[in-house]
Amino acid sequence: MRIDQFVSQATGMPRSEAQKVIRRGQVLVDGNIITKTSTHIDPAAVVLLDDAPITLPGNIYLMLHKPAGVVSATEDPAHRTVLDLIDHPHRHTLHVVGRLDKDTTGLLLITNDGEWSHRLMSPKHHVPKTYLATLAEPLTQAAAQQLRAGVQLHGEKGLTRPAEVEILPAQQARITIREGKYHQVKRMFAAVGNRVEGLHRERVGDWVLDADLQPGEWRELMDVHIS
Ligand code: URA
Repeated sequence: MRIDQFVSQATGMPRSEAQKVIRRGQVLVDGNIITKTSTHIDPAAVVLLDDAPITLPGNIYLMLHKPAGVVSATEDPAHRTVLDLIDHPHRHTLHVVGRLDKDTTGLLLITNDGEWSHRLMSPKHHVPKTYLATLAEPLTQAAAQQLRAGVQLHGEKGLTRPAEVEILPAQQARITIREGKYHQVKRMFAAVGNRVEGLHRERVGDWVLDADLQPGEWRELMDVHIS
């Protein structure tokens, strides 16, 4: 691949910026300074920028414990984003797999593999997502049954798909849904006359939030197979 492409992908610099640092002699490839921006290099070469090694991103898959108060976006003019929490050399390549509301906490998957995130989020794949909701009122058996069967959300065509609902002590409920409409969980509880006061995502597909991952902490995923 071209050296300017390599530097741009490895650092997140725009191609024009990468070309400048190359022309200035700041880039070494396998020990040799390369100043011609169109030079082809082996992607496995040892590349240094200002004496520090830089590498191509490859595929990255992360689990983040999203704290409340940060937005699930890559950039936001007014708020701190979840990517501000990710101190990773290839942070510039990452995107969020399915957003959580600003006040929702819990499991957020983050990647630079667009195909993987598309498969996880595609409505066709019905990937389960489990949330722990803290409610304004105790959830009645009748309301839980309505949620399991499907409820009509304002402005949506049909009923929500069948959900799994568990009534828990302390006005909490665990709900698993297989779709991802805007504010879906909050709107589902509102549709049965309740209100979500706190929402925490515990699981997406086969990934369960690590119990020892504190809010704001993240780790790389080992197995990224989607079952
Ligand atoms: N449903 C919601 O209402 N909010 C979220 O953040 C996620 C699912």
